[in-house]
Amino acid sequence: MRSHAQTVHTQFDPRAEAYLHSAVHSAGPDLQHARTLLGQCPGTLHRALDVGCGAGHLAFAIAAHVGRVVALDPSANMLAAVIRGAAARGLEQIEVRSGSAESLPFAEESFALVCTRYSAHHWTRLPAAVQEMSRVLAPGGHALIIDAIAPEDPLVDTHFQAMELLRDPSHVRDRSVGEWRELFAAARFTELEYRQWPVRIEFASWVSRMRTPERSIAAIRALQNGAPHEVQAALGLEADGSFVLQTGLFWLVKAGRP
Ligand SMILES: C[S@@+](CC[C@H](N)C(=O)[O-])C[C@H]1O[C@@H](n2cnc3c(N)ncnc32)[C@H](O)[C@@H]1O
Repeated sequence: MRSHAQTVHTQFDPRAEAYLHSAVHSAGPDLQHARTLLGQCPGTLHRALDVGCGAGHLAFAIAAHVGRVVALDPSANMLAAVIRGAAARGLEQIEVRSGSAESLPFAEESFALVCTRYSAHHWTRLPAAVQEMSRVLAPGGHALIIDAIAPEDPLVDTHFQAMELLRDPSHVRDRSVGEWRELFAAARFTELEYRQWPVRIEFASWVSRMRTPERSIAAIRALQNGAPHEVQAALGLEADGSFVLQTGLFWLVKAGRP
């Protein structure tokens, strides 16, 4: 039997190259909007942290606006991909650090920006991780949170989370907008903006990126085909298993000292 942390390594260590070149991860309206938000901040931010950086696409996107970007991930192969990707783009301001969101290896209030993209649904203790992001952020600093958003309808949500877990055993849970907002309120974050985009997930590349075994692919297809029509409609399910996922972006500010 293995721990969740071991499952994360098993899932991500061999897939760093696939994530570096993944179309879903290397582009998207959320990355474009992240650039716009950073561009609106006055001056250059002195130091930013990308939590669960994967192959580094968010770190690359914000680098032009930041003096130093620390890209953190538990997967050594992902960090090696970030180093390769940063060198290929001439981004000398990016450094990597091994670690986990639930226990960030940094001093209090040491970043002007803390961000994360498509990683939080793998974290086992999300409330602790959001508190950690707040702890290392300077008062008045910004947080940028991007992740798949869970459907509000419980029937649709249960089918969606089951598809995610069958595809990737390191999946923990996508959160709804309401669940995220409760976590922010408990961590001294004020929401400045929320945006959401539908992203079409092409089934064959979605399962091949995580090397989902055939028996799990068959289980996902059976789940999809047996889903009630309201679930199929809400997820935009197509004949080949492709579907629509909602990507959410929260732009937050940390309150000053009381
Ligand atoms: C889908 S990839 C991230 C994609 C990347 N942020 C991007 O924008 O392309 C998810 C990453 O989360 C990392 N991860 C999983 N559990 C984590 C945790 N507890 N703390 C930090 N990162 C974690 C994985 O190692 C993996 O690299």
